[in-house]
Amino acid sequence: MTNTMKIPFLDLITPHQELHTELLGVVEKVLSTAGFIGGPMLEVFEREFALFCGAKHCVGVSSGTDALRFAFLAAGIEPGSIIITVPHTFIATTEAISQAGAHVAFVDINESTYTMDPEKLREYLETQCEFDSKREKLIERASKCPVSAVVPVHLYGQTADMDPILELAARYNLIVVEDACQAHGAEYFSKRDNVWKKAGSMGHAAAFSFYPGKNLGACGEAGAITTNDDAMAQRMKMIRDHGQAKKYYHDIEGYNGRLDALQAGILSVKLRHLAKWNEARRGLAHRYHELFAEAKGSVVVPREASWTKGIYHLYVVRVQDREALQAHLAEAGIGTGIHYPIPLHLQKAYQHLGYKKGDFPFTERVAEEIISLPMFPQLQQDQQKEVVSKVLEFVTSKIGAPR
Ligand SMILES: Cc1ncc(COP(=O)(O)O)c(C=O)c1O
Repeated sequence: MTNTMKIPFLDLITPHQELHTELLGVVEKVLSTAGFIGGPMLEVFEREFALFCGAKHCVGVSSGTDALRFAFLAAGIEPGSIIITVPHTFIATTEAISQAGAHVAFVDINESTYTMDPEKLREYLETQCEFDSKREKLIERASKCPVSAVVPVHLYGQTADMDPILELAARYNLIVVEDACQAHGAEYFSKRDNVWKKAGSMGHAAAFSFYPGKNLGACGEAGAITTNDDAMAQRMKMIRDHGQAKKYYHDIEGYNGRLDALQAGILSVKLRHLAKWNEARRGLAHRYHELFAEAKGSVVVPREASWTKGIYHLYVVRVQDREALQAHLAEAGIGTGIHYPIPLHLQKAYQHLGYKKGDFPFTERVAEEIISLPMFPQLQQDQQKEVVSKVLEFVTSKIGAPR
């Protein structure tokens, strides 16, 4: 990922230049101690990140995808059971479900928050499933498979509406794994408990990605799982390390899925700046909102529901003819992204699930109209103004003066 655009979609060079000395200090420490795997750097980061998320434990792993997979395995998800999530997410969410031996079932998103619609979850559980008193399990009628878990995705850095999701999960005895891979520091206001809670502290477990472009990004691949459950944390530690708690004593078969000490050290340095970076993103997002007010609805800006304090991993707007807008912005030297163009239920990889176009109308509509604009803490106000003016130039040329 290099910055070839005049206004890049994401700037990964400047923050590393700003932290150059501190980051080199981490590299030197790792080299001089040969502390490559495990050890104090990993333990310190795990403690700090757990504290940051308001969770009891953090277990460092090799990626966000492994974090999800290990969370399912540590929760004891029954092979062949169903895990429910949304079709509007990165494929890693569903890859991890399949890799844990479970089946994927989708429910639609809410059209304005882009996260799991709790009403759609309720509808699925109440109309497509029934309680089998012999097996003492909730069973999906069509497939006869038990339903074991639900994965709300805190997409773009906004939390899903967790109170009703947690309430349904408790009623039907489902495990909840938050996909917090885009939500480091995002908060949710729980009306039930009358308190703000951090992403990663609400489900049985939560998965984080530290892919370089994330709000907290490593200098390579990295991830973590958070949980408040002591036994699950113990199992996660074994699963990431070949099923061993003591070297060469393997209680189970596990994986090679550890977090490098070098990446943990780098993440500890960056974690000290995360709250400030998230605040900068929030400031930029609110400025984008204000500047786009002029578009009078032809640019739909992200809606932050009253129950979320978003950390704007991505600033995603909706427009008509977004491919043409993307080309227009590229011509002006402005980088953009599409997160994500094809809903998962319509991907070739998931043809076997039997879904068809029209099954999840909100996801499908949103996927056709979204475009992610430049968003990173070091984005300058004049750059942001130029992005907005180029977007407005495009929408105005399409419809005459903005409506
Ligand atoms: C929503 C979501 N889930 C899971 C992942 C997987 O994380 P990783 O790329 O670290 O495996 C990502 C990363 O892009 C993501 O955005």
